Amino acid sequence: MDYLSLSRAARLAGVTRAELQRRIRRGEIPTFEGSVAVSDLLRAFPAVSLADDAALERVERIKTDALPKTDGQDAALPSPHVLVARLRAMSRTLVERMSALSAAENLLDQVDERLQVLVDSPPATAPKQARETHAWFRHARASLRTDALPDERAQLFAKDTFLRIMAANVKLIPSGHDYFVEGNESILDASVRAGLNLNYGCSSGNCGACKARLISGETRRIREHDYVLSEREKAMGYLLTCSHTAVTDVVIEAAEALTTSDIPHQEIRASLRKLEHISENLVSLNVQTPRTQTLRFMSGQRVRLTLEDGASRELPIASCPCNARNLWFYVRRGADAFSDAVFKPLRPGHLITVEGPYGRFVLTEDAPEPAVFVAFGDGIAPVKSLIEHAVSIDVIESFHLYWDTEYPEGHYQGRWGRALTDALDNFQLTPLMSGRPDDVFAVIRADHEDLRGLRFYLAGPEAPILRLSELIRSTGVADERIACEITAS
Ligand code: FES
Repeated sequence: MDYLSLSRAARLAGVTRAELQRRIRRGEIPTFEGSVAVSDLLRAFPAVSLADDAALERVERIKTDALPKTDGQDAALPSPHVLVARLRAMSRTLVERMSALSAAENLLDQVDERLQVLVDSPPATAPKQARETHAWFRHARASLRTDALPDERAQLFAKDTFLRIMAANVKLIPSGHDYFVEGNESILDASVRAGLNLNYGCSSGNCGACKARLISGETRRIREHDYVLSEREKAMGYLLTCSHTAVTDVVIEAAEALTTSDIPHQEIRASLRKLEHISENLVSLNVQTPRTQTLRFMSGQRVRLTLEDGASRELPIASCPCNARNLWFYVRRGADAFSDAVFKPLRPGHLITVEGPYGRFVLTEDAPEPAVFVAFGDGIAPVKSLIEHAVSIDVIESFHLYWDTEYPEGHYQGRWGRALTDALDNFQLTPLMSGRPDDVFAVIRADHEDLRGLRFYLAGPEAPILRLSELIRSTGVADERIACEITAS
């Protein structure tokens, strides 16, 4: 346990990954190939204690409440088979450590004997330093035996052991992303929950699109799969991530979608799960895809929804790709056939074809600097998706959401925003009702002295978005730091 992945180090220290990365960026904790040394972690967090766990657990709980529920939550505990396999793997590690320890003990005995020989030799040949070294050595060994109280390192070891039984860490190469497989979930499901974009198709062992190569560690098949891997592929370590879980910490070579063009165009026959009236003129739709066909998309993207009668509309997805089976949308009453059908209203079970995804309004994931999100009116939909994703990947230093709306429904996602504000000390929500981009800009300026170190995500109707991005650019913010999405007014 000399080096730890960032996710594991953050869990052990009882802090979020973003907090750990912040300290790494400040140069307080050195890293080696994306890992942190135990000694450096202990130096940065000397008070590794159970109290920290409680604080982190509280944050995780509120975060879970604020984020959409995923389907895998009923499998929070590993299955007995996985538990046994993990315990077996840990006993192997323990045996290795024990033999290394007894070899070290033997070596110390030999050093003791040799020093004794030196000390017993005539004074002329046994220098004073040898006698002193021997006395020091015996004293140090004796205190090693009596100082049995667990030090921070031992506490960390105990926590790490427990964590390893409950969850295995997956490191992806070449990207270097890492995440935990909890309970009995597949390597693929855990990656989706972590907001990553591993390649996949059916998620049920039929298509082979999720094929990846195990570089190190141990996995276990959790479901039969129809897709057949050749003997040569098996010998090379290939497996289906949708059908395997990680038993020990693993390193996997896998293809990930890093840009929107890496995501294939999809057409999925989904159905309406829920329709909720926010007001007379605004509803939220929860569209669910079949269990075997989740939608691959990046947060902030749009899809085209087509109803049974052929009426269709392109809408931003208002939820996180970490729950890609349950897609949420806001639909405002308009003068088109789609709106007529939705406000009739649509009944649960109505078949809806989901086509897409479209758009490039996505998070810049390798940019950890503070992010400012601005939504005008219903522009909150793609922004909510981005923020949920950003929270789930936990790499952005801080978020500030400004939501300016003049609609009579007001800030209809206010509860969601407040839950995030409670859960995260790096999230801030500023609700506004000005309707003027210049006023919104003035508020942003008052809150942030220098805008050049920030990254901006703006969504809403064309006129305020163009004006606000022009104002932001006028302060010297580079173009590539401003992402815009034009939504319907
Ligand atoms: S996603 Fe189709 S086999 Fe795994």
